[in-house]
Amino acid sequence: MKKTALVALLCLPLFSAAGAADKLLADRHMDRVGKCEACHQTMPPKAVGSKQCLACHGSYDKLAARTDGKDINPHASHLEDPDCGACHRGHKKPVLACDECHEFKGIKVP
Ligand code: HEC
Ligand code: HEC
Ligand code: HEC
Ligand code: HEC
Repeated sequence: MKKTALVALLCLPLFSAAGAADKLLADRHMDRVGKCEACHQTMPPKAVGSKQCLACHGSYDKLAARTDGKDINPHASHLEDPDCGACHRGHKKPVLACDECHEFKGIKVP
């Protein structure tokens, strides 16, 4: 919490300049779902498993339908159903796990 607050404070000028799109995933969710417990079933918070994400986001099939028609479909690949956390991060910069081996350009993980 302390660390999060500090980071938020340090990034404040950045946020106001760049807008909500540059907020981290957990902060964007806080704007919508309003409480840490939406993702963190246990307090103090621990890492969040895909099961908790899918409670709201449905299934990999549903996600794949939303991201179909792009160059790659991050939700339907030969990695099958990886943990959401392989790419999406709650409180840090996301990564595209595919790029451990590939080099897909211009794909941003929200
Ligand atoms: C309590 C419900 C809830 C939970 C739990 C939840 N989300 Fe979401 N999420 C939403 C809603 C509502 C939206 C906005 C509508 C949409 O895009 O589906 C959203 C949007 C997103 C987006 C689109 C980008 C953005 O921020 O707009 C991503 C990516 C995402 N969620 C990933 C995750 C991941 C990963 C987890 C688990 C760590 C997670 N969500 C857990 C409700 C939830
Ligand atoms: C291999 C990396 C990867 C994994 C694993 C992954 N995602 Fe994503 N996700 C992405 C990328 C990249 C995008 C942006 C796609 C785009 O804009 O074309 C995205 C977009 C989304 C969106 C927004 C879709 C939209 O309509 O734009 C949601 C919601 C989401 N992911 C949820 C999840 C959840 C929940 C999980 C776990 C069950 C998950 N993702 C696993 C890479 C991943
Ligand atoms: C969108 C879902 C989401 C929301 C909402 C969310 N978190 Fe998280 N949190 C995560 C994920 C995913 C992780 C795993 C590490 C990462 O990806 O940053 C995490 C990790 C953490 C950790 C580190 C736990 C550990 O043992 O590694 C703390 C502490 C934490 N969150 C606190 C909070 C607090 C406090 C709030 C409310 C202000 C909050 N989180 C809201 C998704 C969320
Ligand atoms: C651990 C390494 C690794 C990871 C991570 C990985 N790939 Fe691959 N991928 C490969 C290998 C090896 C091949 C087969 C060799 C080839 O065809 O280039 C391949 C092949 C592919 C192909 C077919 C290539 C073609 O031209 O037909 C696609 C598409 C693909 N991967 C997409 C993805 C996506 C999307 C992700 C992330 C969700 C991902 N890969 C993650 C190693 C990986």
